[in-house]
Amino acid sequence: MRAVQFSQFGDPSVLHVADRPDPGPPQGDEVLVQVAASSINGTDLGLRRGDAKIATWGQMPFTPGFDVAGTVVGCGPRVTAFSPGDRVMALLGHKGGGQADRVLLRQRRAALIPRGCSWIDAAAIPLAGLTALQALHRHGRLGSYGAGARVLVIGASGGIGSFAVQLAKLAGAHVTGVSSGSKVTFVAGLGADEVIDRHRDDVAGTAGHFHVILDSPARFGLRDLQHLLTPDGVFVTTRPLGTDALRAVPARLRRRTRRWAPVITGARPSDLAHLGDLVVREELRPNVDRSYPMADVADAHRHAEGPATGKVVLDISAT
Ligand SMILES: NC(=O)c1ccc[n+]([C@@H]2O[C@H](COP(=O)([O-])OP(=O)(O)OC[C@H]3O[C@@H](n4cnc5c(N)ncnc54)[C@H](OP(=O)(O)O)[C@@H]3O)[C@@H](O)[C@H]2O)c1
Repeated sequence: MRAVQFSQFGDPSVLHVADRPDPGPPQGDEVLVQVAASSINGTDLGLRRGDAKIATWGQMPFTPGFDVAGTVVGCGPRVTAFSPGDRVMALLGHKGGGQADRVLLRQRRAALIPRGCSWIDAAAIPLAGLTALQALHRHGRLGSYGAGARVLVIGASGGIGSFAVQLAKLAGAHVTGVSSGSKVTFVAGLGADEVIDRHRDDVAGTAGHFHVILDSPARFGLRDLQHLLTPDGVFVTTRPLGTDALRAVPARLRRRTRRWAPVITGARPSDLAHLGDLVVREELRPNVDRSYPMADVADAHRHAEGPATGKVVLDISAT
């Protein structure tokens, strides 16, 4: 089968499509999926650059891709949720591997794609949509603040951020997005009440207080922005390690209310199905900026790292 891979870290030119052995038959609760589309996340860009070398240690050549949308073509003996022919979307584990013709995954990582949702839109949902949903509601406790909650979304033009702005608006919050340059217009179009251009204004100098601050690109620490939190507010970050994690230990031991909450995205089929339903009801847009055939994966990374807004998707079924 064909698979995107890289054998060294670097710019997008390190990416290429190679022939790889087919995954074996599904075992236990695994399903074998014929992949139709897989999206590119900030995580793929960082792994390719070598930002987190430990994550690919011992796995070179590495096949990126954490989101897949495709057709079930085989089921292990313990699979209960799916049958061959089902259209599914899934969040893969830390080994990635979604940017390939076929992938094996455990059934608890997948949900049916609702009727009316395209492959490309479905592939845009899992990692970015689940991270945004779980960051706001599970870690940020957005529902506990009632009407008029105030949310600050940093990285609002990106994959996670574009889902987060919409999901926070759906929850009735007043949303301020942080973006840059021409992407500010895109963020306003998502429904943000206010947009800060980080190239013109200092985020830490923003007026007002927020119940939830979501720093999706993890560019800030709690101490940089805690003066912007309400007394019961939470700073949610996609960076689970670092100095904030060490500083949070005493508060956890004393069971004090958390001010700092890291997201480790969970592949929850019920969350995935909820996001899919919102998309087919047209309450949530995956905002796919462009899709590329697998052979053009390097161009897709260049676009995702540059002018893209929302999501960039690889159309694996296109030749
Ligand atoms: N912990 C977890 O479980 C988990 C799960 C998923 C993702 N992640 C991480 O989350 C991060 C974001 O993922 P993504 O898919 O949303 O990425 P993405 O689509 O590339 O979006 C990142 C956004 O960050 C903004 N940005 C870039 N540099 C910035 C800076 N210096 N200050 C403020 N904003 C900046 C950019 O928008 P503007 O230029 O418009 O500001 C960009 O749109 C990645 O690093 C990924 O590894 C972690």
